[in-house]
Amino acid sequence: MKQPIKMQKLALLVVVLLAALAISRCTAAATVRMQLTHADAARGLGGSVLLQRMALRSKARSARFPSSSKSAPVSTLVSTSEVVPQAEYVVHMAVGTPPQPVRLLLDTGSDLIWTQCLPCPDCFNQILPYFNSSRSSTFAHLPCDSTSCHDLPFTSCSNVKFLRNQTCVYTYDYGDKSMTTGLVDKDTFTFGASGRSSVPGVAFGCGEFNSVTFASDQTSTAPATGIAGFGRGPLSLPSQLRVGNFSHCFTALTGSKPSTVMLDLPAHLYRKGRDAVHTTPLVQNPVYPSFYYLSLKGITVGSTMLPVPESSEFALRNDGTGGTVIDSGTSITTFPPRVYRLLRDAFAEQMKLPMVPSNMTGGLTCFSAPRRSKPHVPKLVLHFEDAKMDLPRNNYVYEFEDEGDNFICLAITEGDEMSTIGNYQQQNMHVLYDLQHNKLSFVSAHCDKL
Ligand SMILES: *[C@@H]1O[C@H](CO)[C@@H](O)[C@H](O)[C@H]1NC(C)=O
Ligand SMILES: *[C@@H]1O[C@H](CO)[C@@H](O)[C@H](O)[C@H]1NC(C)=O
Ligand SMILES: *[C@@H]1O[C@H](CO)[C@@H](O)[C@H](O)[C@H]1NC(C)=O
Ligand SMILES: *[C@@H]1O[C@H](CO)[C@@H](O)[C@H](O)[C@H]1NC(C)=O
Repeated sequence: MKQPIKMQKLALLVVVLLAALAISRCTAAATVRMQLTHADAARGLGGSVLLQRMALRSKARSARFPSSSKSAPVSTLVSTSEVVPQAEYVVHMAVGTPPQPVRLLLDTGSDLIWTQCLPCPDCFNQILPYFNSSRSSTFAHLPCDSTSCHDLPFTSCSNVKFLRNQTCVYTYDYGDKSMTTGLVDKDTFTFGASGRSSVPGVAFGCGEFNSVTFASDQTSTAPATGIAGFGRGPLSLPSQLRVGNFSHCFTALTGSKPSTVMLDLPAHLYRKGRDAVHTTPLVQNPVYPSFYYLSLKGITVGSTMLPVPESSEFALRNDGTGGTVIDSGTSITTFPPRVYRLLRDAFAEQMKLPMVPSNMTGGLTCFSAPRRSKPHVPKLVLHFEDAKMDLPRNNYVYEFEDEGDNFICLAITEGDEMSTIGNYQQQNMHVLYDLQHNKLSFVSAHCDKL
């Protein structure tokens, strides 16, 4: 009797070990971890310049939405891609066999994945060589009748031989007039530092005629070679990889430490710290189906609850306007004009410091403070459904010295009718997009130690 029991135990042990191996192998293969760098990180810009650039970008991005959307279904579809490609974070991956590196702006506000491709008759300068499809053995053009071609708002079918007959030609534009035109192709994408995870047949745009605001400066080299759409549409990277979730964790904008984006991250990597995880539903807007809408209920500034009824500016209206979007591609959070003014006034009242004229601050709300002081600033809390975003000081004020003066600026600006939660507010916060359950979670984290 003893022997069989021992054998059984051994067998059980082997099974458990094998299972453990299988599980760890599964997670290692399934979880994709990619490095992100901040687009401004390496340029060594001074404090006020950096903030003004960010403010301008947020403004340009938020100007994209029509003030009322009584448009026909076709132009409604078009509007979903009208997103300014000013994502601040660049994700590193590779395309083709053997892999050719690309760097794409992480944009949760659009869907298409694209990079600049040879022969590139009208392309901007980039750090890396242009993607050369002749060097990839897994590259293929997608025909006009492919699903991916149909999923794009603007396509046409090439019928001229020299332009590769019967292939899908796309044009994808963004609200700041940035655009890319090229062929819709597919190839193997490789993710992760040492090429551990490869996915064949990812549809992407091979951009050959590109004009983008992140490369508007003719003399300099763009930090990115294209854009990675992380939106909710079928062509986005998370959709094509059929992941159940993805997360990003942005390190401090003013630093140069790399950030992380993960696809299908295991639960234990998320619920790691001791801080409370906050979870709020992701809301769907049929008019802009690519965006991740949250339901924002209210804002408190210090001791003041802003007098904004839930049914007014914060509500997502039937015509698709209003509402609140969380977006990795917007830098500074924007609120509708009236909400912004209420917030600014509540802030100014509790700051008790002189406000700097806005013509000197690029329209931002800034205060001047005595040199080397660290004045008290009122707390800022965003109240979402079931979740409270209690922002740390560095996630909503920006402090810098300029010619000996000390400035404290509110890193929030006035936008259009839609509120947009930008990446400035998400620094050192691990944000999880749970696509399976339509939920968004956030928890404070040390993003450089993830
Ligand atoms: C692209 O790759 C092909 C095949 O290796 C090569 O012949 C061609 O010169 C490359 N084009 C450029 C512009 O590098
Ligand atoms: C393009 O392809 C279609 C269908 O295969 C063919 O009928 C047509 O003649 C081709 N055109 C050229 C210019 O090769
Ligand atoms: C993310 O999705 C994967 C697979 O769908 C799942 O195993 C994992 O638990 C999810 N992670 C979190 C943090 O919910
Ligand atoms: C800002 O406006 C004030 C008056 O409102 C003016 O005196 C000042 O010169 C302006 N500063 C700049 C930089 O335009």
